[in-house]
Amino acid sequence: MGKLVVLSVVVAVLALLIGERFYALRNTALGFRELTQNHLPNCELIKGLEIGAEDITVIEYRLAVISTGLKYPGMPRLSDAPGKIYVLNLASGKDPTELHIKGDFDAASFGPHGISVYTDEDGSRYLFVVNHPHDNSQVEIFQYIEEENTLVHMKTIKHELLHNVNDIVAVGVENFYATNDHYFTNEYLKLPEMLFSLPWCNVVYYSPEAVREVAGGFFGANGINISPDRKHLYVSDLMNHQIVVLIIQKDNVLSRVKEVAVGSLCDNIEVESKTGDLWMGCHPNGVKFFLRDPNDPPGSEVIRIQNIHSDEPVVTQVYSDNGSVLIGSSVATPYRGKLLIGSVYQKALMCDLE
Ligand SMILES: *[C@@H]1O[C@H](CO)[C@@H](O)[C@H](O)[C@H]1NC(C)=O
Repeated sequence: MGKLVVLSVVVAVLALLIGERFYALRNTALGFRELTQNHLPNCELIKGLEIGAEDITVIEYRLAVISTGLKYPGMPRLSDAPGKIYVLNLASGKDPTELHIKGDFDAASFGPHGISVYTDEDGSRYLFVVNHPHDNSQVEIFQYIEEENTLVHMKTIKHELLHNVNDIVAVGVENFYATNDHYFTNEYLKLPEMLFSLPWCNVVYYSPEAVREVAGGFFGANGINISPDRKHLYVSDLMNHQIVVLIIQKDNVLSRVKEVAVGSLCDNIEVESKTGDLWMGCHPNGVKFFLRDPNDPPGSEVIRIQNIHSDEPVVTQVYSDNGSVLIGSSVATPYRGKLLIGSVYQKALMCDLE
């Protein structure tokens, strides 16, 4: 009888603890947040993009490169269609064009996630793509031949430190920084990682000579990008609702400079080359994003940070929508007077900015 009482007490305490943790996680995921519409003028859906536009990066203000068809480990698939990379050239007046992939590459299992472009001193361009074929994490490096609308596959990079890669920023022909958005790779341990708010995510530096963790302490490290002078990195500490500014030290080690609160779960970060402003596609309500109820869809939010290195960075909500126009925004970038907004698995939007 005594044993049964002890057992009941233990079970009750555990149930309370887990209940408390779920409640705390709901708060952390901004599950109570309601959104007011904050639309921009002349928004239109970008033609041909129907299976997400998880990441977008603009090259020299001329071309926008777009990754579609994310296959994220542990997340239900909305489409089994192979992922694709598109290029949008607004000056041409044409819809986005698919880039043809050449070389020894399994295009059928392509599931592109974060992307980054590196331009070499000789003008050659390399597109780095986080890929999740068969629920793995790996990084593909392609050479981008603009005249031929082609990506030539150069290399696949796999490494035990690149285990849950979300986003990437290229800093050399074969060098990059990447974020891991979970610590555990086992799907059953990812929920406890969230429930107990374990800030165990990191940033990894990769070069062919050395691979190592260069920053840690993130609770869901997500988007990553670099300042125009290439001295600072910006990382979205998603579940802590902040953008972390890091300075690149000797040997590519990073040290934290500061954090800027954004009040949302920000995904990819784009940096406007002319101004140094940061633009983020964010998830205003992580619980809705997780549940994906078609009758109560997750919304979209675009946040900009100006003067991030000053004592008073300016954080502005530039766009928000309750999910009736765009579901689950993951990236936003200014481009030729427009704002391009991509989403994890739905559509992409283009609005007037100026
Ligand atoms: C979103 O807001 C619009 C009004 O702007 C409203 O008509 C619509 O029902 C709302 N949708 C959702 C899913 O809340």
